[in-house]
Amino acid sequence: MTTMIRSTFAATLALTAGVTLAFAHGDVAPQPVDTGTLPTLGEEWLTENPYRSEAAGEEVWAEAVRIGASGYNQNCARCHGLEVISGGLAPDLRFLEAEEYGDEWYVERFRDGYTQNGITKMPAFGELLGQEAAWAIRTYVETRPDGDSLDAFADELAEMRDTLEAGSADVSAAQARLAEIAGEIETLSGAPVADSIAYRAAVQLAAGAPQDKAAETLTIGLSAAN
Ligand code: HEC
Repeated sequence: MTTMIRSTFAATLALTAGVTLAFAHGDVAPQPVDTGTLPTLGEEWLTENPYRSEAAGEEVWAEAVRIGASGYNQNCARCHGLEVISGGLAPDLRFLEAEEYGDEWYVERFRDGYTQNGITKMPAFGELLGQEAAWAIRTYVETRPDGDSLDAFADELAEMRDTLEAGSADVSAAQARLAEIAGEIETLSGAPVADSIAYRAAVQLAAGAPQDKAAETLTIGLSAAN
């Protein structure tokens, strides 16, 4: 009898511990982020984003955005929202200032997570993902376009998409206009360039991509916005 109570108690304890442990890790284990194509940053944690284009050049910046998008989607989106648009579960990270003050706050949370009354509200990612992943995700987050400033161009972008899809656009004019629109689309973090669909399509056309590729980029972004 005593043995049975004991073992039931032990089983309950084990179960409770398991649940607590799962919760402490935020239910899902952090997913590794492949940062092999980014400059390495060393052991010591920086306090300012080294992958901004002012510091690292546009190519590194664009690669950081690409890697950061996947790192964000795998590790942060379930709490902070898809496309970094918060559904209220956790703060909206798009508003974190894209300068040293915001960076310090960002990296502190990334490394240590957040625990309140013994409950892990956000898991610590620092040791598991490393700082290259941290700053890549940071770069992605701070370059999210402000949805409202994109909306202002939605009709024009849809028209451009149709022309590009039909293959009948004047490519250099389209590229120039897309670049102009990209310059009008703002971030909420204050970062100078938003990684908007206009920006992406302009870059694609500048690199000689076929018209329908740029049309596809616009289509994906336009449907995501609606
Ligand atoms: C299990 C849910 C969860 C996950 C996963 C998560 N967070 Fe958080 N995060 C939170 C919560 C809750 C807070 C608010 C904590 C507080 O009150 O400061 C927070 C706060 C933050 C803050 C401070 C924001 C501010 O405005 O004060 C940053 C930065 C942050 N998280 C980044 C990330 C990044 C980057 C990832 C992915 C690598 C991530 N978080 C994953 C739940 C999560």
